[in-house]
Amino acid sequence: MFLFYHTEGGIVKAFLLAFSGAVCYNNMCIAIIPPRKGIDMSIFIEFQNVRKIYKMGEMEIAALRDVSFEIEKGEFCVIVGASGAGKTTILNILGGMDTLTSGSVWLDGTEISSYNKKQLTAYRRYDVGFVFQFYNLVGNLTAKENVELAAQICRDPLDAETVLQQVGLGDRMRNFPAQLSGGEQQRVAIARALAKNPKLLLCDEPTGALDYNTGKSVLALLQDTCRKHGVTVVVITHNSALAAMADRIITVKSGTVESVRMNDHIVDVADIEW
Ligand SMILES: Nc1ncnc2c1ncn2[C@@H]1O[C@H](COP(=O)(O)OP(=O)(O)O)[C@@H](O)[C@H]1O
Ligand SMILES: [Mg+2]
Repeated sequence: MFLFYHTEGGIVKAFLLAFSGAVCYNNMCIAIIPPRKGIDMSIFIEFQNVRKIYKMGEMEIAALRDVSFEIEKGEFCVIVGASGAGKTTILNILGGMDTLTSGSVWLDGTEISSYNKKQLTAYRRYDVGFVFQFYNLVGNLTAKENVELAAQICRDPLDAETVLQQVGLGDRMRNFPAQLSGGEQQRVAIARALAKNPKLLLCDEPTGALDYNTGKSVLALLQDTCRKHGVTVVVITHNSALAAMADRIITVKSGTVESVRMNDHIVDVADIEW
C-alpha cells in the first residue's frame, strides 16, 4: 500500500522515513506501508485458528477446536452443522457476545478478538445486527417501537417505518408482538436488526421456530436484503438444504471446519425443498 504525503515541516517526513520505509523527494513523501501479513484486502471476516474451551468445574468442553475460515463483504454465508457442532459459539464470538480461548477473529481489517469490554459493547451496538430463533421482541412495545428502540442506540440508524415497509409489515407497525404471527414477529426482528444499519447481519437458526412456508419467506427476505442492500449475512442452521441458497457454505463438525466451499449454482429459496 502507498501513502502520498505532502509535508512542509520535517517531523512527518522524519517519522515516515524512520518507521515506514518512506521515500522522500522535495516535500513529497511516499510511505510504503506493508499490508498486514496473510490478509487479503477483499476478506471481510476472518477466523484464524479459533479455539473455545468452556470450563465447568473440573471439566473442560472444547466447543471450538481449531476453526479457520474467511467470508467476503456482501456475501450470503451459511454455516451448517449438526446440533452441538459449535455454530452458536462461532456466531457469538463473531458478534462480540463471547470471547475466545485462543486464535484471532478479524472484521474489516480490525482484530475484534483483542477488543476490551467497552470496545465490544460499541461493536455490538454499532456494527452488528442480530436475528435469533425466538425473535426476542419487547412484548409491551409495538412493532414500530421495537425497531425504534434499537435504532435509538445507533449512530446512523435507518427510519423505522421505511425498514418495516421493506420487510412487508407496512400495515402492521402499530401491532404488539402478541398480535403478530411467528413469521411476522421474525420480520420485526429482522427490521430491528437492519434499522441499526449494521456492517453485518448474524442469524442464529432464524427459521427454527417457524413453519415450512413462513420459514421460506423469512429466508427469502434475508437473501433479498443481502442482494439489494449489500449487507454481509451469516446464517447458521442445522438444515443442510439451506446451503443451496448461499454464496459460501461452511460446514462445521465437532468444533472444527469440515469444509468451506463457494456455491456455483445459487438457488432461490422458493425452489429449495426440505
Ligand atoms: N456456555 C457454555 N458452557 C458450557 N458448554 C457450552 C456452552 N455453550 C456451548 N457449550 C457446548 O459447546 C458445544 C457447542 O455448542 P454450540 O455452539 O451451541 O453448538 P450448536 O449451535 O452447533 O448446536 C456443545 O457441546 C455445547 O454443549
Ligand atoms: Mg446453536
